[in-house]
Amino acid sequence: MTTDFYDQLTPLYHLVHQDWNASIQRQGEQLAGLIESHWPGSRKLLDVSCGIGTQALGLAMRGYAVTASDLSPNEIVRAGHEAALRGVDLALSVCDMRQAHAHHGSGFDVVISGDNSLPHLLTDHDIVTALKEMRACLREGGGCLVTVRDYEREERGKNLVKPYGTRLVNGRRYLLFQVWDFEGEHYDLSFFFVEENLSTREVTTHVMRSRYYAVSTAKLMALMRDAGFEDVRRLDGVFYQPVLIGTRA
Ligand SMILES: C[S@@+](CC[C@H](N)C(=O)[O-])C[C@H]1O[C@@H](n2cnc3c(N)ncnc32)[C@H](O)[C@@H]1O
Repeated sequence: MTTDFYDQLTPLYHLVHQDWNASIQRQGEQLAGLIESHWPGSRKLLDVSCGIGTQALGLAMRGYAVTASDLSPNEIVRAGHEAALRGVDLALSVCDMRQAHAHHGSGFDVVISGDNSLPHLLTDHDIVTALKEMRACLREGGGCLVTVRDYEREERGKNLVKPYGTRLVNGRRYLLFQVWDFEGEHYDLSFFFVEENLSTREVTTHVMRSRYYAVSTAKLMALMRDAGFEDVRRLDGVFYQPVLIGTRA
């Protein structure tokens, strides 16, 4: 389900951001600042849910050696095109983060998972599995950096509409919104992209569907400790969503 969602979303993914290039720059700068202050001197980074490369590109453009993987083959292909367009090197491959260590091996200074990727894993068991794999990819003293939506602040219910605004691209207007339907601690998400050709007024609706676990940051921090991370902390006001960090002692 997650693979199909992101494979279909791939050509439209940048529209999730008001200005994707600006997001790449800003997120790269903010994450580089966090990496420098918590694990100074880090060079070798692993992004285990890179998507089309928002964080991986921003960090590679700042001189880090970035290895990046994702579950979605289409996103990895697009991340490769985006890296080539910008003249940066990204070592890209398809990998489920629950097998990150078997796939990537160890020795990384910092492992990241950005923009609410971990909550695509629907059980605590799967999240701990992924976190243990991420930890095994690190050198001793290396860091884990995860950014997630703050589900404590989100309303529970059905038919919840989350507007993302409009985008104007090449004579087309896109209206983006998500609809959430909760069932306990999980919710089904439909992501709508209503595309209007401004010359012909022709309208096409794209919709992709997925499921998330609305896991709290407190729970995620407990799962990070269960996975063996130390000095686990939540950082607020440094990124557009909470950042959770932990260190492999
Ligand atoms: C919201 S996107 C964020 C992508 C990227 N970090 C960004 O900000 O552009 C979530 C990503 O998590 C990936 N993902 C979900 N489950 C995964 C898994 N088990 N292993 C690896 N990647 C996964 C999805 O394919 C998707 O690319």
